[in-house]
Amino acid sequence: MFGMKLFGSTSYLGVDIGTTSIKIAEIGKGSSGPELQNYGILESYGHLERVNNAIQTSTLKIMEADTIQLLKTLVKRSNFKSREAIVSIPSFAAFITLFEMPQMKDSDISKAMQFQIGQYIPLPITEVSIDWLKVGERQDEQGFIKEQILLVSIPNEVIEKYRRIFSASGLTLRALEIESLALQRSVTDVSMSPTLVVDIGSRSTNIAVIDKGNLRYNYQTDMSGASITQALAGGLGVKIRRAEKLKRERGILGGSESELSTLMMPFVDAILNEAKRAKGKYEQNFGNAVTQVILAGGGSKMPGIAPYAQEQFGLPVTIGDPFSKIHYPPALEPIIRDLGPSFAIAIGLGVKEFSDGSL
Ligand SMILES: Nc1ncnc2c1ncn2[C@@H]1O[C@H](COP(=O)(O)OP(=O)(O)OP(=O)(O)O)[C@@H](O)[C@H]1O
Ligand SMILES: [Mg+2]
Repeated sequence: MFGMKLFGSTSYLGVDIGTTSIKIAEIGKGSSGPELQNYGILESYGHLERVNNAIQTSTLKIMEADTIQLLKTLVKRSNFKSREAIVSIPSFAAFITLFEMPQMKDSDISKAMQFQIGQYIPLPITEVSIDWLKVGERQDEQGFIKEQILLVSIPNEVIEKYRRIFSASGLTLRALEIESLALQRSVTDVSMSPTLVVDIGSRSTNIAVIDKGNLRYNYQTDMSGASITQALAGGLGVKIRRAEKLKRERGILGGSESELSTLMMPFVDAILNEAKRAKGKYEQNFGNAVTQVILAGGGSKMPGIAPYAQEQFGLPVTIGDPFSKIHYPPALEPIIRDLGPSFAIAIGLGVKEFSDGSL
């Protein structure tokens, strides 16, 4: 999606530029499948104290100079072999729409799309780059087969910004992809019936419904990890860093008995309520029930969140394990257990060339 054919290179960098961190997974082709060759993570702690110091903001402003600096540092420090980057774009920076069309040839879909597109995006067609993929089909009331198409439009301005950042960092931007497609590859598989994937980041939570390996629905909210930390800092009257530490160590394990949990719970509930809302919308639109929930992102590492979410959803809830899809050197085992769901997007991007040819 939004890239050229990726042939040739022996390894690729999956680059996840989050609001507060950059994560890179270098993935190559091992003898028995995709293999982690190297990885790097850089967190910008500045954001914790100064709210305006995020790398990425939901107003589409990506802090170019800061990002270039961080990327350069990370590339230098990590000694990656490849310079070929496959990069994610947060869902708030793209327009994602699902719609139906009568069954037709791909070339005809492309033509028909030119006429349809105006009604789905709020920008003139000349100002966006579009890509689409078939995600399923449905028989309508009259018995006609309808093709379900996922349309992704990214403003050209955003693409240009990413190009500038990567070229200034000495990397080649090979492909840009929305986060949910990377998550689809790293934490779900084609055998799974409708699955709600909730990626709890620092500044935003990305929620997707993925059915049998196809992204069906995407939703994004600002309710996320940073709001939990801020609530704790405010409630306890402690510094943000201390609050962050307490959140990571204790989480919501204490239940309603603990002051910590009591302070954090409303914010955890707000995130889960947004996820429930997305689930409801999907179920209403598709007449199909979500059967399980997978948590990802740094926020899913909060102690106690998975059992709590399970109670709330009344469905099986697991924490995504992107490393289960790839091979890695055994010596990395302890680090990998720690990184876990935080690397879901970076790995989903890095394995793109080795796992499917379709996007
Ligand atoms: N053990 C933990 N317990 C609770 N929260 C955690 C833990 N580890 C990380 N987090 C939280 O996860 C968030 C960072 O997650 P992640 O790295 O996925 O964010 P990001 O990708 O930089 O941001 P975004 O996706 O919003 O752009 C922070 O809010 C952090 O406090
Ligand atoms: Mg993220």
